[in-house]
Formats: sequence, structure tokens, C-alpha cells
Amino acid sequence: MPGDEPIRLLVDCDPGIDDAIMLLLLAHHHRRGDLVLDAVTAVAGNVPLDKTTRNARFVLDRAGLVDVPVYSGAAQPLARRHTEQAVAFHGPDGLGGLYGPDHGGIDGGDAAVEIVRRARAGVDGRRPWLLATGALTNVAIALALEPALADLLEGVVVMGGAFGAPGGNWRPWAEYNFYFDPEAARRVCESTLPISIVPLDVTERVVITEADAEAIDRRQGPSQLAADLLTQSIENHRRQMHLDGCLMHDPLAAAALVDESILRWVPRVVDVCTEGELAGHSFARTAHHADRGRRESHVALYVDVDRARATILNALGGD
Ligand code: BDR
Ligand code: CA
Repeated sequence: MPGDEPIRLLVDCDPGIDDAIMLLLLAHHHRRGDLVLDAVTAVAGNVPLDKTTRNARFVLDRAGLVDVPVYSGAAQPLARRHTEQAVAFHGPDGLGGLYGPDHGGIDGGDAAVEIVRRARAGVDGRRPWLLATGALTNVAIALALEPALADLLEGVVVMGGAFGAPGGNWRPWAEYNFYFDPEAARRVCESTLPISIVPLDVTERVVITEADAEAIDRRQGPSQLAADLLTQSIENHRRQMHLDGCLMHDPLAAAALVDESILRWVPRVVDVCTEGELAGHSFARTAHHADRGRRESHVALYVDVDRARATILNALGGD
């Protein structure tokens, strides 16, 4: 995980309420100079690509990051045609239906091409980190464009997968991002990329409550957006899961880049099932001699819940 220098960061996401909250968290740290948010790329997932792209632009603008570019990427998974979307959790437009159909905007450029270009560019000899909180389609395409991508990135943090209990969220056996594009998840997990995976095992332990949302000082633009999105997400989680609060999967992955003591990682070989009924199911195991040196991922299996909640809420509360 990161050292003292502010890290350079590329973010690939599918906003989505928790992706949007993650962008607000990162924007807070970008404004403080803790990290440099280089660019954001959007992928289809929670809602279709035009909406995830617009939402990313909208959130960055509201957070004052008008100069951080947003690039649109894959509209469909590598090998599937999905009609499923997570609108029950994220609303018809991905942001709870709070901002009308025409919010945000579309910038030019292609996501995978930009990931590769910016990874190759390595500013001041520093390689960027990549944080991926949607389906891994854009990342898999970037890998196909640049097979040496592993040497060009400092690390790749992935929100996805489920390894113990719970077995899944979108399906009993599969987490949403891996389920949405299992072929991409498999290619990325089998690659030589230096991957750190933040699965449901830890994200489902970090709950943001109504009291937390109410305690956010709404006077600033980004904080008001955060509080509104959290309130909407809590309502959706109550309706869908009978949960008293909302799960902030993607913000936890971002928080781990800001405070390395939040998660504890174990080295694991990760496989993703792409066949039949169990497509999207993920396995994590210790390396076997038959793996012939396959690169292990770091998998987060332990979370300091209080620290995680504090890091997320402090960032959303304003500067
Ligand atoms: C993941 O699925 C999406 O709905 C969320 O944005 C998160 O990235 C959790 O399974
Ligand atoms: Ca997401």
C-alpha cells in the first residue's frame, strides 16, 4: 500500500451511489493534497454506460474537480449481453433519481486507451495506482491493449468478489461486479497485475446509519450531495435488505488507499468461475505448486470497522 508521497490515482467505476460516495471521498483527499486524482473512467454496470459516465462527471463537478477528466469505456461485458442493472439499490439513473435525467455530461476519449496511456506516462517517474469499483471490463481491455500493464502500475485495488460468508449479494454465490462480467474478472485475477481485492467479506461489515447521514454538515456542496445520496441509499437498503443503514462497498476500497491500517490482507490465488450457473463465483486459496508461480493477489479479509467508518465519514463531512 502507499507510502509518504501523494499517490497518483486512476479510478474506474460505475456510479452508482456507493461509487459516487467513493468519488466524493477521493475528491476530499485530492483537494487536501493527500493524493492526485488523475482521471476517472466509467464502465457499464449499476446502470448503462451513458449514465455511469454522466454520473461520474456530475459528482466530480459538484466536488469542484472540474479539471479531472472522465472517459467512457465498455458498454457491455466482454462476452455477455446484460439487461440486469442494480437500479433497486442505485435508482433508475444510478444516483437515486435525485438529479433529473440530464445531469452530468459526457467527455470524449476511451477508458481503456486512457488507462494505458496514463500508466505509460508515469509522471515524475511515479507509477499510478488503479482503483476499480465496477465490472472489470475496462481493466481487462486495457490489459489486452498493454500486456505489460503490470509493470506500469504501482498497484490495482479492486472492489469485488466474495470468499467466505456472505457468498454473494447479487446472486447467493456471486458479488455484483464479478457477476456482471465474470470473464473480465477472471482475466484480471489470472493476470500478473499487482492486485489487492476488497471483497464483500469486509465491505458488508461497514454500515453507515441514518444518524451518520444526519450528522453530516450539509452546508457545503459536496457534503450535501453526500448526505442526500446516503439518505437515499439507506432507504434502498431498508427496502431491499431490511438493513438499518447502507453498505459502502466502494468507499471502503478507496479508504484503504488513504489509510493502510483499515484492512488486513492475506496472499491468495483468486479464481473466478465463468461457466454455467455459478458464473461470477469467486474462490480464494493459498498457492499450490501446480499454480507454477501464478501471482497471488492480496485479499482483504479483516477490517477495522471503526477506523473505516471514521475515515469515510470524516471525508464526507467537509474540509
Ligand atoms: C458492488 O456492486 C455495485 O452495485 C456497487 O457499486 C459495488 O461496486 C458491490 O457488490
Ligand atoms: Ca461500483
